[in-house]
Amino acid sequence: MSNSNRVWFTDVAARDGFQIEPQRVSTETKVETINALGAAGVPCIEATSFVHPKAVPQMADAEEVMKRITRYPGTRYTVLVPNLRGAERALACKPDMITTVVSVSDSHNRANIRRRTFETLNEFEQVAHLVHSAGVTLQGAMSTTFGCAFEGRIPLERVLEVVEHYVALEVDGVVLADTTGMANPAHVRQVIRAIQDRWPDLELHLHFHNTRGMGLANVYAAYLEGVRHFEGSLGGIGGCPFAPGATGNICTEDAVHMFMEMGVETGIDLDRLLEASRDMERALGHELPGQVMKAGRTLDLHPLPPGEAG
Ligand code: COA
Ligand code: ZN
Repeated sequence: MSNSNRVWFTDVAARDGFQIEPQRVSTETKVETINALGAAGVPCIEATSFVHPKAVPQMADAEEVMKRITRYPGTRYTVLVPNLRGAERALACKPDMITTVVSVSDSHNRANIRRRTFETLNEFEQVAHLVHSAGVTLQGAMSTTFGCAFEGRIPLERVLEVVEHYVALEVDGVVLADTTGMANPAHVRQVIRAIQDRWPDLELHLHFHNTRGMGLANVYAAYLEGVRHFEGSLGGIGGCPFAPGATGNICTEDAVHMFMEMGVETGIDLDRLLEASRDMERALGHELPGQVMKAGRTLDLHPLPPGEAG
């Protein structure tokens, strides 16, 4: 539980976002987007994933992306890995952090990485050993924590079991992911409280999708429980290709704008973030879900209509 008046964002547009784009995203667009996020002061960027190129063709250039990006000193670069082979490939690219991913529900884990949940967690023992030996930070992500498109609600005991495995692997934090936007604010508070009761010092990162319009309400609910780490994606793009009905993450700049309006520090330059989002929209060639990029900030005022002035 934290009372700090500061939150930390990880932007996952380059991974969760680009992985589901219908048209091939060029390596250049990926690198430009990641660099723009770094220049805006985003404290952590999930730059890519080291998965099978046949499973997710958009991530086939993971090594190239990692080679070409500019590493901003105030930013940490993490990458997502589903297995040992992914971790080996990732470590060769020298990320600051590796985020392993497993689904809390067996059915989504099978659809996504072709293993049962606990088979994947067992493989992560070797991954954790490798990552820690390399002196790299390890973080554990949990897809479908708040619900699974195949199984529905996930029993809390099952969520706690997965957290327990990650704690045993000595992860620096866990990412509770709402893969298909099934969480609601009351549910979010319940899950966070249960985890904090058992592991009060474990750093929790919340990853919401806005599939049913509850994304920012869920962020605020988690904030009220003391959570200070959130994942979002530039422009609100995103979604898992192996979860039916998946849509975009919460939009990073909309969430940053919300916290700024509330007087909570993010360390991010919102103007630069909005510019990055508009540039990415042009590069992707379709409208993005982000709202502040269209509406402007709350206090971007407009001139009076003609005849009303004075
Ligand atoms: N990167 C590249 N190649 C990989 C790999 C990885 N992370 N993991 C396995 N491979 C290769 C193996 O080396 C093997 O190659 P070979 O046939 O030349 O020996 C081949 O793939 C099959 O290995 P296997 O362990 O049987 O993998 P699989 O076919 O069961 O696939 C995953 C498992 C995890 C690699 C695959 O399902 C995947 O990449 N899923 C990613 C899903 C995703 O990104 N979802 C969205 C984000 S949550
Ligand atoms: Zn996601």
